[in-house]
Amino acid sequence: MAFRNKRFEKRSRRRKRRSAEQSGSNIFARPSVASRAKSGVIYGLLALAALFVFLFIFFNVFGGGSKVKLIKDMTAEINSHRAASSFVEEVTNGKVLRDQAVDTSTLGKKTCRITVVSDKGKEKEYEFQITVVDTQPPTIEADSSIVVYKGSELDLKAQAKVSDNSNDEPEIEVVGKWDIASAGTYSITIVAMDASGNKAEKTINLEVIDNTVTDGEYSFITTTGHVAKVIDGITYIDGTMIVNKSFSIPKDYAPGFLNETYYAFYDMVDAAYNDGISLWGISDYRSWEEQDELHEYYKREGPDGVEEYSARPGHSEHQTGLAIDINTSLNPEFADTAEGQWLIHHCWEYGFIYRYPAGKEHITGYIAEPWHYRYVGRELAEKLYNDGDWITMEEYFGVDSKYSD
Ligand code: DAL
Ligand code: ZN
Repeated sequence: MAFRNKRFEKRSRRRKRRSAEQSGSNIFARPSVASRAKSGVIYGLLALAALFVFLFIFFNVFGGGSKVKLIKDMTAEINSHRAASSFVEEVTNGKVLRDQAVDTSTLGKKTCRITVVSDKGKEKEYEFQITVVDTQPPTIEADSSIVVYKGSELDLKAQAKVSDNSNDEPEIEVVGKWDIASAGTYSITIVAMDASGNKAEKTINLEVIDNTVTDGEYSFITTTGHVAKVIDGITYIDGTMIVNKSFSIPKDYAPGFLNETYYAFYDMVDAAYNDGISLWGISDYRSWEEQDELHEYYKREGPDGVEEYSARPGHSEHQTGLAIDINTSLNPEFADTAEGQWLIHHCWEYGFIYRYPAGKEHITGYIAEPWHYRYVGRELAEKLYNDGDWITMEEYFGVDSKYSD
């Protein structure tokens, strides 16, 4: 106990001495309470300033800038019009400043760049990759029902308008069986496939009809895309009647020489007269029976090759009331006369066409007939005149002139 008391006293004395020293001889070396408070404030302010500087740097470097979120589907269809920004779902704290069109003309990976400006005015370029793909099948434009005459030339591949969004030509295949030589109904499928393997199909109902059908109404699209209508056995293409070896008119179609042809012809005769050219009609309207007689006569008595200069009954334009032989007949030299030349170069002004031009025999099916003129109206006549390089009705409308037997 005594020992413990001694230690306690010793410690107590030491404490007293230290306390005396602190409040005694070192009084000027120690800061006052006010001074200590002051420096505390300064330290606090400094720490606060440092915090502000830190936060300022932090937000400028890491925070407060823009962020770009991209959409999920990073693919673009070939030849589509896409801007790089169309792949951006959202820009946080900013907006797209500069955009660019994506090159979608070829397949594969493409790098896109956009510049974003943050709300604070900082610009930043973002770069990302997208893939150009071809997922769309070709489109096939074709009538679902095609009507053609027996024996006509039919190129379904050429007739179907196939297009694709890619730059490559799609492969076209025509699947099915048909016989153009026999009347009937056939189901045909046009298959088109693009280079990426996208496939389209279109089924067509093909009706092959007999040229001798004289009732009902049909329509079909010609190889040059004109609409042909067959009404009671008469074929009109874009409203113009067509009669040739492929397209006939019924036996009882007997309009006589039509007024429109008559007036146009006499306008032409007057105009030619003013130019010192004499024109006169040799043969205008001929009925089915008259054509039959004439054709039979030529077969017996006429020059060889009757089918190349005389139409079979039902196939002659003379039965339409729209045709006229002028000044001569069966005389090829007429083309070289002043009258022949005047007609070839001026007939269109009066709505007539040089129906069987020289050089087009394989198309019209007839020798050049510089005496045979067909009235079609001035608009079409001017197109077919083609600045002197005559186009046939067959070429223009996209039809044949061939007998089916
Ligand atoms: N000479 C023409 C082709 C006809 O007979 O109608
Ligand atoms: Zn004629």
